[in-house]
Amino acid sequence: MTLTIAFIVLCAINNLESVTPQEFPDGFMFGVASSAYQVEGGWNVSDKGENIWDHLTHSHPDSIADQSTGDIACDSYHKYKEDVALLKDLGVHYYRFSLSWSRILPNGYANFINPDGIRYYNELIDELIKNQIKPMITLYHWDLPVTLQTLGGWTNPILADIFVDYANVAFSHFGDRVPYWITFNTDCRGYDGDIIPPAFNQSGIANYLCGHVTIQAHAKTYRLYQSKFKTSQKGEIGIVSMGVTWYDEQTNSNEDVEAAERVRQFELGYYTNPLMGNGDYPSVVKERVAYRSMHEGFPKSRLPEFTPEEKAYIKGAYDFIAINIYTANLVSDAPEADYKNVRYHNDVKAQFSLDPSWKNTSAPWLKVVPDSIRKILNWFKNQYNNPKIIISENGCADSEDFDDHNRVMFHQQYLSEVLKAINEDQVNVLAYTAWSLLDNFEWNDGYTQKFGLFHVNFSDPNRARTPKLSARMYKQIIANRKLHL
Ligand code: NOJ
Repeated sequence: MTLTIAFIVLCAINNLESVTPQEFPDGFMFGVASSAYQVEGGWNVSDKGENIWDHLTHSHPDSIADQSTGDIACDSYHKYKEDVALLKDLGVHYYRFSLSWSRILPNGYANFINPDGIRYYNELIDELIKNQIKPMITLYHWDLPVTLQTLGGWTNPILADIFVDYANVAFSHFGDRVPYWITFNTDCRGYDGDIIPPAFNQSGIANYLCGHVTIQAHAKTYRLYQSKFKTSQKGEIGIVSMGVTWYDEQTNSNEDVEAAERVRQFELGYYTNPLMGNGDYPSVVKERVAYRSMHEGFPKSRLPEFTPEEKAYIKGAYDFIAINIYTANLVSDAPEADYKNVRYHNDVKAQFSLDPSWKNTSAPWLKVVPDSIRKILNWFKNQYNNPKIIISENGCADSEDFDDHNRVMFHQQYLSEVLKAINEDQVNVLAYTAWSLLDNFEWNDGYTQKFGLFHVNFSDPNRARTPKLSARMYKQIIANRKLHL
């Protein structure tokens, strides 16, 4: 009896002291994201160089659903002040945007720094700061200068040093005002398929080379910042772990449970284990690629190796991990197979499907699976000893121009799972970023898929922006720091 009363009293005290489950903790930050090619336009102004998306959209218009380009996009190159006013109205704490490498270094190399590129980003950063919005800058969001693609792009190890030179320019010119840097919005799919540029064929080699060089470029950039800029600039550096998907097992069979974890290691651990784990690729990735390579007659594994020195250098090269998370897939084990030219599938030995009960969005790949966000957060927490996590993208494709109820529900449901991850699972989540501020150029889907909190009228030369219902909802959540479910 006394014990029961003590228990009730204890619960009551705890309840008073802790935040209620629907409230975001003090210091938790909200932001929105965009990327240069998707919003800026101004594709050839003032010495800007051509990047691989300029090149693709101009040379192969049919590879974009509506044959569109990012030539003008949302015209944020000219309308950045208006964008900042929208951000201010939302009340976000930070704006995640990316730098266009070829706007700053037109031919990719740091031998010529384009004054207009420096001016543009300086003005954007200053405008943000004037409005108490912190810049969170992604150095690379897929728009490689064409000159560097002709060297083999991310398969060429020299890219790591060329990237560090570019990062050095960015830190030197902007770093005094930037608290958060993201080196890469990682993605090597273009090196393992024929849709996304550079559209290398599926060799099972180029994709791993791309990842290998990316990881080294990230580590070198992190070390450069620590030695040259950290003391004065005090920024933090992270990387977006590849993918937008959480992987769940299709059934509870041991084979499927193992297959799902194998996919998570291939998709999530591949980038993060070298940095946040033991300095190397996850062991299951090493084992599987070596095994398949041998089976296919390669003299050694298609997965490159890190030397012991490289492992020591890469390990620990991060301050936070950034996660883009939208949806989930179900995974089942697959038999060993020889899909010609689809070596990645052979390597991972898995099949993917969608649960028919998951609600649709307007994008076929994006199903509404709110608990995917809580699960992925917990996976990172458990794998890597509770690192600092920034949710760098989460959002919903929806065709409604203004009354986007589906997007409103989407963000509320996912945010509710983020709260559970923070308050119930003690995951160290620092921030949540909605993708995206504006409807914008959605890569191969052109303007056919919309993610914006603000509608953009693409037939209007002025690219008028109008808030959707979701913008009003997000503003309210940020102001109240709680959800109204
Ligand atoms: C992830 C990418 O980083 C972003 O560029 C893209 O628009 C969103 N996913 C939505 O597909």
